[in-house]
Amino acid sequence: MRNDVVLIVDFGSQVTQLIARRLREFKVYCEIHPYNKINVELNNKLNPKAIILSGGPASVLDHDAPRPPDSIFHIGVPILGICYGQQIMMKMLGGKVTSGSGTAEFGKSYVKQKNEKIKLLDGLFDKYETEQVWMSHGDHVSAIPSNFKVFGTSENAPFAIIGDNEKHFYAVQFHPEVVHTLNGKILIKNFLDLADISFDWTMQAYREKAINEIKNIVGEKKVICALSGGVDSSVTAILIHKAIGEQLTCIYVDNGLMRKKESEEVIKLYTDHFKLNLVAVHEENLFLSNLNGISDPEEKRKTIGKLFIEVFEKEALKIGDVSFLAQGTLYPDVIESVSFSGGPSVTIKSHHNVGGLPDIMNLKLIEPLKELFKDEVRILGKELGIPDNFIQRHPFPGPGLAIRCPGEITVEKLDILRNADAIYIDQIKKHGLYNKIWQAFAVILPVKTVGVMGDSRTYDYVCALRAVTSIDGMTADYYPFEHEFLSETATKIINNVNGINRVTYDITSKPPGTIEWE
Ligand code: XMP
Repeated sequence: MRNDVVLIVDFGSQVTQLIARRLREFKVYCEIHPYNKINVELNNKLNPKAIILSGGPASVLDHDAPRPPDSIFHIGVPILGICYGQQIMMKMLGGKVTSGSGTAEFGKSYVKQKNEKIKLLDGLFDKYETEQVWMSHGDHVSAIPSNFKVFGTSENAPFAIIGDNEKHFYAVQFHPEVVHTLNGKILIKNFLDLADISFDWTMQAYREKAINEIKNIVGEKKVICALSGGVDSSVTAILIHKAIGEQLTCIYVDNGLMRKKESEEVIKLYTDHFKLNLVAVHEENLFLSNLNGISDPEEKRKTIGKLFIEVFEKEALKIGDVSFLAQGTLYPDVIESVSFSGGPSVTIKSHHNVGGLPDIMNLKLIEPLKELFKDEVRILGKELGIPDNFIQRHPFPGPGLAIRCPGEITVEKLDILRNADAIYIDQIKKHGLYNKIWQAFAVILPVKTVGVMGDSRTYDYVCALRAVTSIDGMTADYYPFEHEFLSETATKIINNVNGINRVTYDITSKPPGTIEWE
């Protein structure tokens, strides 16, 4: 059974992913593809039942303005254009777009209904005459083709809602996908109804579909998976295990950079509870001896990444005759985003994952989560019976505690950090805050300060606490703890962790900071 598909054509808007989020919330399957990758082949593969044209930063008046192929207007499915999507639709179908001097709108705006109430607007303009919407446009549509009609206007967008009711082509100047467009979700749902989309994208159905696909692809062959204990690799492993059982071997590398009791917990859960074929390798000495004397963050990351690959490769070769490598890649990692900047993007941090392996080992990839967003992975994890405390875990970076220990890494510092971190996370859980925070952790700073405990002088390390809220880790805000929580936690850490006599709280957002300290 195949779900109905909505194709989202991306013109590079900052909020394109939100369109997909809204659709998924309605249990509708959708895929985002860049405008310049839309072709007959993709259309045949997806066979979309509706198309949404996203917003974007360009102007349709530019001579090289991004445009999709004309053919999308001949597929015969309903189309919704949003902001830039509306303007390019008008430009291609015979309307007119005018440059914005004096008519740009950014932020909150109000749209008034015009002409008859169409199905797209069911449930809108019921309570009030106007609807609050969120605009972000410089140019605006100034004329529409004769088969289109206006159904809503705002002060600076005379064609805020337009449509061709016969073809079910609709376009809006505002962004219905953002929450500031108060009834945007209703408009999107109406559009999906007009396209006769079935709302049946459930994790239960996905689980069955994925298991069957894995069985078909793998056949009798062997699969390996690097298990870190994080949500993504756990869900990947359990899902594949359900499909092919013993043909899957998971490799867990304890690199000496894990949190307190982490290795024991991960190994116990996957062997005792899930009965996975798990090879746990203890390579603490290898990693720590290679990291000895390194204080540069990038060098640390690269050293760890390289060693990880070496260890993994060695273990995989021992298993022998492996054909597939399973990875917990998520949908946001594979969306090919449209870059208008032209140049290569700057590397802020070399992220560590096992992406470099297939080249070396000639393995085929299986990525069963690559259609899912993080919250969907968590739902799938629940479906698979993974305990809540594992599913709700905060993200933990591949290089582990190495990047929470700025400067040189020593066993002593790592032990101090593990103890402080455990107390901090325990405090957060006790206060019922764990699930309100995207990620929280302690950092041990490479500075010692003077303190006084009892009647003695101390000269110990400083511990920084970090807690952030975020949607996807790309931007983040610090979590506003109560002062009482902070002072209680600081006291507990200082009283119980030998080696720390001072605690600070990091209130930097991202940007300009990053979530991790290195
Ligand atoms: P930054 O520090 O870049 O982190 O703001 C954003 C998110 O990514 C995590 N992170 C990593 N995850 N491998 C990973 O799998 C890495 O090398 C890595 N570095 C950072 C970080 O914990 C945060 O959730």
